Amino acid sequence: MTRAAVICGLGTWVPPRVVTNDMLAAELDTSDEWIRTRTGITRRHVVNPGVSTGHLATEAGRRALESAGVTGVDVVVVATSTPDRPCPATAPVVASRLGLSGVAAFDVAAVCTGFVYGLATAAGLIGTSVAKTALVIGADTFSTILDPGDRTTRVIFGDGAGAVVLRAGDHEEAGALRGFDLGSDGRGVDLITVPAGGSEQRGSGVTAEEADTYFHMDGPQVFARAVRHMTSSVRSVLKDVAWDAEDIDHVVPHQANVRILDACARELGVSADRVVKNVDRVGNTVAASIPLALADASADGRLEAGQRVVLTGFGGGLSWGSAALTWPGITAVGGER
Ligand code: UT7
Repeated sequence: MTRAAVICGLGTWVPPRVVTNDMLAAELDTSDEWIRTRTGITRRHVVNPGVSTGHLATEAGRRALESAGVTGVDVVVVATSTPDRPCPATAPVVASRLGLSGVAAFDVAAVCTGFVYGLATAAGLIGTSVAKTALVIGADTFSTILDPGDRTTRVIFGDGAGAVVLRAGDHEEAGALRGFDLGSDGRGVDLITVPAGGSEQRGSGVTAEEADTYFHMDGPQVFARAVRHMTSSVRSVLKDVAWDAEDIDHVVPHQANVRILDACARELGVSADRVVKNVDRVGNTVAASIPLALADASADGRLEAGQRVVLTGFGGGLSWGSAALTWPGITAVGGER
């Protein structure tokens, strides 16, 4: 590819309603102590009735465009696994709400790896001159698909959206996406899933049990695979861009569980202070997780222009992916966290 995709804007949005661990403990058989020690999460943001993924994606997209100082892009990619409707994609509606009717717009469904897959897709479109600019949004409202009585998933997930603007640029400039590693293993389809509602169940002619219309996750199985695949994916992308682990200024992982992040850091030999974490304040926000973490690290001054950053994600599919980049000199525009 002749042209690099360069990050030139970052925006985020989380719904204003905060749900604390104590609020969950008042309705489920759980406790603030269990949630903090097993996940590191203290609170999460959750949408009110009537607010969908498309609304959050639009707010984050608007802020990313403002951060980049632009009003238009050539393509809008929305990474989500909680689309507004099973059909069509959410991205065209988001694009139109942003005043971008007419541009290419489509969704990428890779659950918690969605933002990395979306970045790679948009970088490919820029690298092959199909587009000069792109808006990549990671947005999810998992609160809308969780079983209200399932303590293992209710405590983990939060809602949110984060977005970046990409433009064509030079491989050596700050903000350039340098390399990607992407992978999947469909043998793990049942470990993270909403079993009903798709063509598999509808085509079977069997009416879905209500429980199967909700999100299911085999936490301990997913935990082990998350550590294994995120560390091996980071190693692969480092090899691709010829960086050593000690060259990385910041690893920005998908915020699944603080124990997963600590285990990845240990495996990679990266000190804890170089791993960006905000799972305590937002929980696991699925496709929004990595851009929300980037925005927090940018806002508190940790991310500086030119620093070497590796993003890594793991989730349903199973799927995983990592991206190596240098951080641009941008100011994120985002909601209060
Ligand atoms: O984002 C996509 C990728 N997702 C992830 O990476 C998530 C990965 N998995 C995890 O983060 C963790 O597995 C969980 C946080 C989901 C669960 O933590 P765990 O340490 O793996 O707990 P566990 O499922 O092994 O359960 C341990 C115990 C069980 O009780 P018993 O059988 O030992 O009596 C559970 O019933 O903890 C119980 N438990 C709870 N107790 C209080 C499970 N959830 C809760 C809860 N509150 N919310």
